[in-house]
Amino acid sequence: MEDISRRHFHTAKDAELLDHSLAGKIDWESFYTEGKRTPPFLRNVPDENLVGFVNHGRLRSGNAIDLGCGIGRNAIYLAKAGFRVDAIDLSRVAIARGRLIAEEEGVRTNFIVGSVFDVTLRDNHYDVAYDAGLFHHLPPHRRPYYLELVRQAINPNGFFGMTCFDTTGGQPVEDWEIYERGQMPPGIGYTENRLREILAGFLEILDLRPMKVCPESADALGLPGTWTVLMKPLAPVERSQ
Ligand SMILES: C[S@@+](CC[C@H](N)C(=O)[O-])C[C@H]1O[C@@H](n2cnc3c(N)ncnc32)[C@H](O)[C@@H]1O
Repeated sequence: MEDISRRHFHTAKDAELLDHSLAGKIDWESFYTEGKRTPPFLRNVPDENLVGFVNHGRLRSGNAIDLGCGIGRNAIYLAKAGFRVDAIDLSRVAIARGRLIAEEEGVRTNFIVGSVFDVTLRDNHYDVAYDAGLFHHLPPHRRPYYLELVRQAINPNGFFGMTCFDTTGGQPVEDWEIYERGQMPPGIGYTENRLREILAGFLEILDLRPMKVCPESADALGLPGTWTVLMKPLAPVERSQ
């Protein structure tokens, strides 16, 4: 008998209704506009793992997309490394900063204001998709959509790199607790097993490790409490969904 526990039943309408059932979502526009907090990702340096993947030749030039790009620090790095880069974020203010930095640094990056769930990404177009810190802000019901849209946007030889909270960086909540409380935490903390389980239906994990912690003065960002993952899309026949 088919294992229906691994199927996802939500329609887009279900997902919208579930979005509205949760409080606590971060207002990213206010976050960037008010500037009350100065987290490390506001510094224009790329993630240490992304630098490693490029330096070791795992990610070569081609089309790249930075999902939830913020001020575009990883997008700008990829553009400098020779990729043609699209970079998308919900926040106008963050994107405006990204455009300014790219201009100052003389690199071309196609910045887009919008939600990853509202833009249409070209199938099989990207050689690299990258997500630094968006995934752990997605409510559980959005994950399958997100991973599916990423999987479809990457070409069969492409890669998906990601950083997300572990259970010390984010809140180690069960999915059902989020809906019972009606509250998204300010970042979901994932155990290694949970992360592997979630990603397994969509992508093959090539590398999953804790992010290397880098000093503030370093020219790469490396934070405690964070996983880094490198994946490639599963062929349709390998997928369990
Ligand atoms: C923790 S920040 C990380 C920013 C950037 N990736 C970095 O590491 O510098 C998460 C970002 O995801 C963006 N974001 C959240 N939900 C999004 C969505 N549905 N579509 C696009 N961007 C989103 C936020 O605006 C915010 O800039």
